[in-house]
Order: sequence, then structure tokens, then C-alpha cells
Amino acid sequence: MQRTVSSSPLAPSVKVKLINAGFHTAADLVDLLPLQLCQEAGISQEEANEVLQALRHDSRLCQERAAEGCITALELLHCEQSQGSLVTFSSELDAVLGGGVSVGKTTEICGTPGIGKTQLCIQLAVDVQIPVCFGGLGGKAVYIDTEGGFLVQRAAEMARAAAEHCALLAEDTEQRAALEDFTLEKILSNIFLIRCHDYVELLAETYLLPNLLQKCAEVKLVVIDSIAFPFRHDFEDFSQRTRLLNSLAQQLNQLANQQQTAVVLTNQMTTKVSNGQSKLVPALGESWGHAATEKLILHWEEDKRLASLYKSPRQMEATVQYQITGQGFRDASVTLELRPCDPPPSVSYKPHPPSPSASAPAWNCSKRPRVEAQHS
Ligand SMILES: Nc1ncnc2c1ncn2[C@@H]1O[C@H](COP(=O)(O)OP(=O)(O)OP(=O)(O)O)[C@@H](O)[C@H]1O
Ligand SMILES: [Mg+2]
Repeated sequence: MQRTVSSSPLAPSVKVKLINAGFHTAADLVDLLPLQLCQEAGISQEEANEVLQALRHDSRLCQERAAEGCITALELLHCEQSQGSLVTFSSELDAVLGGGVSVGKTTEICGTPGIGKTQLCIQLAVDVQIPVCFGGLGGKAVYIDTEGGFLVQRAAEMARAAAEHCALLAEDTEQRAALEDFTLEKILSNIFLIRCHDYVELLAETYLLPNLLQKCAEVKLVVIDSIAFPFRHDFEDFSQRTRLLNSLAQQLNQLANQQQTAVVLTNQMTTKVSNGQSKLVPALGESWGHAATEKLILHWEEDKRLASLYKSPRQMEATVQYQITGQGFRDASVTLELRPCDPPPSVSYKPHPPSPSASAPAWNCSKRPRVEAQHS
């Protein structure tokens, strides 16, 4: 059922070169980067990008067929491999996440106030636009802000830093040409902001998202910052809240899967008292705990900012340190910028963070230490 190169909607001259180089099906090509493909098949980088984009389109078809229940596990694997991941600009966190934030899935980022949830979301809204020839997704972002926390100055700082970072890496004419569309102005104009003031507005906007994304297929990231704020206020009927949240979770998972988009949600932490001990746990209740496919918890350990992968169906739980700099979200250990498409460094895996049912406090309850470690 895998599409063959000969049946793909590519220029005949490109098909001949691909077949002569030994590429017969989409599966033979999905793992390649544009540069590798142009070297191995003797095609231009522009043609290599077109080939890989066509495959991504095929991957969308794969997902539609998966929804109809007629796809093999092998095809699904190829689809997932062709989707790529959304880098965070922290190579250690990318490694923990298996290459970055998953496209086609929902990821929840939880943490105490000021830990950096919004900073990471803004960073992702910039990073999703990294051109394909630099190993990025070349996409756009929809940013639903329920707290009024999106700061355009921060987005501008991160956008400028990302553009400068790519400019330093540009090696050929294709990459230099791509930089013309990866400027501060272009990056900011590709982040579509939606401000929601309550849960009714949020539900309405979520309902409209599939239409929006169908019209703008370049959207590869939808952020909701935060999901908790509108649902933690003005709610007296908790069973109604649970019903609404369950339906919202279903819609967001479907959106991620069917539109091949990364959906990132932020959530607050709340104190839970159990057996006379209090601990910090993600807000919105236990039922919501199943909503997102992957869950990341940002927390303090003394003066260090840590990110713990808490729930993932494909990656081992692990904790890494990060820092927030003027340029954005970064590894704690390095000051030099890492190339987003470089292979992730090895990560020292730490024990699984305590489960919310453990008796000890699950996360550091302190909000922000008075002095944060300097990692510059
Ligand atoms: N220009 C900057 N340079 C360095 N650090 C910064 C900069 N701007 C913000 N920060 C850091 O980011 C923190 C705020 O992070 P952020 O707004 O993402 O928190 P949050 O987790 O979203 O909190 P909340 O739950 O209140 O929304 C600040 O406390 C500060 O430490
Ligand atoms: Mg915030």
C-alpha cells in the first residue's frame, strides 16, 4: 500500500533520478534529510524539498486512511517518521522528547507560575517556522492565549535569535534564500494570535480550529496557553466541567492527528492533600490527566529549572535541566547555540519522578527561588 515513486506526483525527470538511485517507494525516502537526498539522488535541493514535501502530503493521506481503519502498522510507522518533530532549542529536552515535541500528538506542559511554560510555548511558535532546509518544519503557529501571557517583545527576541542562529549556519544558496523568509517580521506575522477570555470563547475557538487549519495547511503548531485558567474559575458544576474537558481533549487529539499538527497545552499545578500530606499535581483533575498524549512537568530543584518527561507512550521518563535566556529557552549546560537538526546529545537519565500518588511531595512546591543559578 506504500506509494511508489513512479506513481507519485513528481516531475518525470526527478522520478527517473530517484529510481536510478535506488529509491522505489515513499518508505525508501521518508528518513532522509533534503541535503542527503540531493546528494544521493543527484537532484537539486529545491527538488529534494519538493519530493519530501510531497511525501509529507502522502503522510496526511496515510492519516486519513488510518482514520478509515485501513492502514498497516508499517505504513503508520513511515507516516510518523516523515512528520518530523518540533525542536525546543534545548537539545537535551529534544533528546528526552525523542527529537522534539511530537507533530500529530498533544503535549501538555505543566508547572508552577514563572517556571517558563509560556516562554517554551513562544519558543515553539518561533521554532516551528525554521525552514525545512535547516531541518525545521517550515510551518506556522496558532497561539490561543487565555491568560494574556503572550508577550510580543519576547516573541521578537526569540525570533531575532532564531533568525541569527540560522544565518550563522547557512552554507549554500538554498539556505541563504530560505533566510529571506525567516526574518523577524515574517516570523511574527506567521504566529496567529487568538485571545480567549473565558471557557466559552475557548470552546468556540477550538471548535473552529479544524476549519482554520484546513484553510492554512502550513499551521504545524497549535498552542493553548493555558487550558487551566478558564476552567479553574467560574465553575460550580464540576461534573459539567469534566464533561466539557473530556470533549475538549477528544477534539484536540483529533485535531493533532487529522491535521498533522503539534498541539501544545499548558496547565497549572494545584495542591492536593492526601493522607495528611500535601503535594503539587497538575490541575484539572485526574480525568484530565489522561487527555494529552505526552506530558512534561517544569519544576524547580533548588535554584535549577528542570523539565521532566512525565508521561509518554514512546519515550522513557527523564529529567533535564534548562535555562531561560534573553534569546529564549535553552540547555542549561551550553551557551553556544546548537543546530536544530543536529543529532541530540546523549542524556543522563534520572529516576522517574515521584508519581502523584507517592506520599512525598511530587514537585518542588516553591514558586521561584530568590537567586537563580547563572548558566552563562
Ligand atoms: N528576557 C528574559 N531573559 C531571561 N529570563 C526571562 C526573560 N523573560 C522572562 N524570563 C523568565 O521567564 C519567567 C517567566 O516564565 P513564564 O512567563 O513562561 O512562566 P509561566 O510558567 O508561563 O508562568 P504562569 O503560570 O504564571 O503563566 C520569568 O520568571 C523569568 O525568569
Ligand atoms: Mg504563562
